Amino acid sequence: MSMPRNVFMSPDAKASALPDANKMECEVVVTKNGESAIRDRLSGETMHPMGPGLESRIVYLEPSRLEARLREGGPPLVLLDVGLGAATNAIGAWRISESLPESARKLEIVSFEHDLSALKLALHPDHRAAFGYANAADEAHVAATAIVDVGHHETKRTSWRLSFGDLAHAIAHEPEGRADVVFWDPFSRTVDPAVWSSKTLRTLRGACRDGVTVHTYSAATGVRAAFLLSGFAVGVGRSTGLHGETTVAAMKPADLETPLDRSWLTRLERSSIPFLPDVEEPAAAMTFIRELPQFQAD
Ligand SMILES: C[S@@+](CC[C@H](N)C(=O)[O-])C[C@H]1O[C@@H](n2cnc3c(N)ncnc32)[C@H](O)[C@@H]1O
Repeated sequence: MSMPRNVFMSPDAKASALPDANKMECEVVVTKNGESAIRDRLSGETMHPMGPGLESRIVYLEPSRLEARLREGGPPLVLLDVGLGAATNAIGAWRISESLPESARKLEIVSFEHDLSALKLALHPDHRAAFGYANAADEAHVAATAIVDVGHHETKRTSWRLSFGDLAHAIAHEPEGRADVVFWDPFSRTVDPAVWSSKTLRTLRGACRDGVTVHTYSAATGVRAAFLLSGFAVGVGRSTGLHGETTVAAMKPADLETPLDRSWLTRLERSSIPFLPDVEEPAAAMTFIRELPQFQAD
């Protein structure tokens, strides 16, 4: 995570009907490129340290082809927004959906979060302009405020629901096989090891439909291996200035622009820490991955 240049202290959070879980202590910081971002003092992690707008666009909104997929028309597109945080990703998706004509697919956003303090801070009058809200009457501000206050918001084109609580548990309670797109944006695996486990990713896979794409900032070998062990095909995501490569997962390699190939397999085999800690039988895991269809092609 990059070090912020300036730090503004958190003002009082607005009261909400939803419980405050106090998992974070949030403050607004200015990132290297001059954008405001939210940092959690407890974990020391900054949300979207490249700058929220830029990172959201490069890692999530553009690679998921959200706008094009919505424009195709058809049944509602279901987006799982894992780690609502300051809602930069969710609001980016919401704004895309709201900008489209009636003929486009409707968007259903389900945001997972166990502490609303980052979003409350981004919506605060002192900070909302820096987080892209024109004023309190801005429709996106109204929608995000409803998420904080009552946990859901609905327009003709876009429904948005908060699933409040531990995300692994919450995803297990989502209907099976419905998600078309996943923005996987929790804190890092150092802070949140359970969230990045193969077990949690298997639960996520259960909530996904054929054709899903899952987007995440991490390109760690252990994380990619965990996605593979959970039944996803895994590919290289767009490079960002800060993180280098990112990762995209899907149900099958054909849905990926750049599936990992045998050169990545070699990297895995040579890695000193190839797997996340919840992999109990590394030798069996290595064999399983070696035999996956995506590594059989020339
Ligand atoms: C990197 S931030 C997300 C940034 C966000 N996607 C955005 O666009 O602003 C990670 C978020 O995940 C949430 N989180 C971390 N672990 C969680 C868990 N086990 N259950 C639910 N939420 C969790 C944190 O509270 C934090 O708000």
